[in-house]
Amino acid sequence: MKLNTKLISLAAAGLMAFSCTNVESQPIKNNPQWVKQAMETVEQHTKNMLPRVLESKQTPRSIERGLRPSRDWTSGFYPGTMWYLYEYTQDNFWKENAETVTEFLVEEQYNTDDHDVGFRVYCSYGNGYLLTQNPEYKKVVIQAAKSLSTRFNEKTQTIQSWSARKSRDWKFPVIIDNMMNLELLFEASKLSGDNHFADVSVKHANQTMKYHYREDYSCPHVVDYDPETGEFRRMDWNNGFCDPKVAAWSRGQSWGLYGYTLMFRETKDKKYLDFAEKIAEFLLNHPNMPEDMVPYWDYSCPKIPTMRDASAGAIMGSALLELSTYSKKNGEKYFEAGEKILKSLASENYLAKPGTNGDFAIMHTTGNYMGGSEVNGTLSYADYYFTEGLCRYLKLINNQPLFKD
Ligand code: GLY
Repeated sequence: MKLNTKLISLAAAGLMAFSCTNVESQPIKNNPQWVKQAMETVEQHTKNMLPRVLESKQTPRSIERGLRPSRDWTSGFYPGTMWYLYEYTQDNFWKENAETVTEFLVEEQYNTDDHDVGFRVYCSYGNGYLLTQNPEYKKVVIQAAKSLSTRFNEKTQTIQSWSARKSRDWKFPVIIDNMMNLELLFEASKLSGDNHFADVSVKHANQTMKYHYREDYSCPHVVDYDPETGEFRRMDWNNGFCDPKVAAWSRGQSWGLYGYTLMFRETKDKKYLDFAEKIAEFLLNHPNMPEDMVPYWDYSCPKIPTMRDASAGAIMGSALLELSTYSKKNGEKYFEAGEKILKSLASENYLAKPGTNGDFAIMHTTGNYMGGSEVNGTLSYADYYFTEGLCRYLKLINNQPLFKD
């Protein structure tokens, strides 16, 4: 069945105002019951969490790690989820509280300690800016991009994700997650008119295509470079399975898929679309992809991989929905795969009932399996990308654009 025919045939349930990120407010005609219920569940969890956040001025990372100060790499996700809830509900309750919690992160715009300034600031201030055009948020996004781009090295042509680490023999470690932070740089170029940020993104993405990926379009977590000569040193691991020759850490594969999809969005360079589709094919055809399409923590672990990482599913689901809008050949397939993942996550197998699960929405996530941390638990970024995916899904089935041109 053609995508449009399928979309038109979806039952309309409820009518509410809905403004897509970046796009004028438009009414939602199609709001299927499973999406409505999932959104209400996320809303309830996020509301239940809020008093602890407001009192501590910290943001939730997971049950295991609790509330964390703004320098934690995950600090942007809870305010980001609040912004998506505002986008969906158009309720000022979410706008006002998202503004308050976003402010807790204000110092992060100057943080040059690692690449995560992108996650921290774009998910919070970036989403807030797209929805409110608050000029103060614009300044924060541009400053954060300046901070992130200080980590770019002309020799390696990449952004340094983490500091050098003697114990691991890392001189200039770059992790696949870094692809996500290029979104902040593109936005900052648009907001400031300074193309330097976008140039850095393009160089980083090109080097990552060349050195981070294997022939089958899978990748390890870490690649180390020599900052003096710019040479590639080796593939390595920190998350995922501990053999970098074969490891295909599922969240890392999702970060890469999302990253190259956003590279195409921002540049319209077809090589990134082709690359994103190659990654998608690796994932969708993988023999270790479970029937419900919520990935195990690593696709390639030679031991029986029983532990899921629902955060990898949420990121992949959201990315596939965007990719579906660009791919002429496989758009319908990617839409259906993204929809299937979101439906799995919205089922009682993964979506916790309000009042349970420490007030996180999504269950069965894995932080770092080999490191033994946050295993089969909760993660604020699973909730964030699940909510983002639902927002994207609603836009697509209501024939609304995902992004402004
Ligand atoms: N960016 C860190 C992680 O995905 O675990």
